[in-house]
Amino acid sequence: MKQAFEQQADAYRDQIERYLDRQCFQYPLEPQARLFEAMRYSLLAGGKRLRPVFVMDFCRMCGGDWKAAVPFGAALEMVHTYSLIHDDLPCMDNDDYRRGRLTNHKVYGEAMAVLAGDGLLTAAFGCLAQADFPAQARIQAVEILSRCSGCLGMIGGQVLDIQSEQRLCTEQEVLDIQSRKTGALIRAACQLGVVAGGGSKEQLQFAAEFAVHLGLAFQIRDDMLDRIGDAQTMGKATGMDGQKNTFVRLYGLERCDQLVRQHTQQAIMALKHFDCSEFMKALALELTNRKC
Ligand code: IPE
Ligand code: IPE
Ligand code: MG
Ligand code: MG
Ligand code: MG
Repeated sequence: MKQAFEQQADAYRDQIERYLDRQCFQYPLEPQARLFEAMRYSLLAGGKRLRPVFVMDFCRMCGGDWKAAVPFGAALEMVHTYSLIHDDLPCMDNDDYRRGRLTNHKVYGEAMAVLAGDGLLTAAFGCLAQADFPAQARIQAVEILSRCSGCLGMIGGQVLDIQSEQRLCTEQEVLDIQSRKTGALIRAACQLGVVAGGGSKEQLQFAAEFAVHLGLAFQIRDDMLDRIGDAQTMGKATGMDGQKNTFVRLYGLERCDQLVRQHTQQAIMALKHFDCSEFMKALALELTNRKC
């Protein structure tokens, strides 16, 4: 089983890396070459590619051809990467390292980092539009990604995260921030996979249920890693969440660890509505102990 899991994970990652590397932002004759360089610098820095993997595997679990879903996965990774470039800016989290290298603004300057993020976000929707699916599926994908990445989703969560830095949040507020800033893009990934795989309305709903719990487990673990993780392994600095309303501040490390496991089990329960969910189950479990 372990071997089958690794093979599947490698196949997914291989496809997304190739797609991103070959298809993205190669315009050697355009005068704004520096912009494309900045976009590729962050996009091809080797993140975990978790959101594309969700897209491809939910597509497969709904009976679709997962390779056709690669452009949807790439779109998610572009939006995610843009969110990280902007998240790291001095006016936001002010971080110097990301994905094992200097942050985008440290290399290209703040203006170019803002524009590289804008470029990735805009290109993501082009990616959805160009995918080889019927128009109805592509329109649905645009609707999902726009809702989840927008002002009621990820952007909204980032706003709440920043606005709440100067005060202590309630548990409900912390849950609300996380469900938007991190949960929403994970939800978009799972639901885009269902759309790509031609899944049912019910499966769209169960994908969202999976994402709610997996997203929570993921951000709780992210907050834990800021305390207990190794900066080298994570490719980003630790101890940066001092003033933030993190789950660690709310619950303490031990309770966080329990909650990661609990929400992962709840996420796994939602998978019973999908065929051949062993891979996703194994991935969810692996993430509970992730070190990066
Ligand atoms: C980091 O996301 C930001 C959060 C939403 C917690 P990831 O941990 O998925 O980052 P990469 O893509 O692997 O760099
Ligand atoms: C980032 O959350 C969420 C988004 C970028 C939308 P964090 O600020 O906790 O992510 P890291 O820890 O910098 O990766
Ligand atoms: Mg942040
Ligand atoms: Mg940050
Ligand atoms: Mg964090």
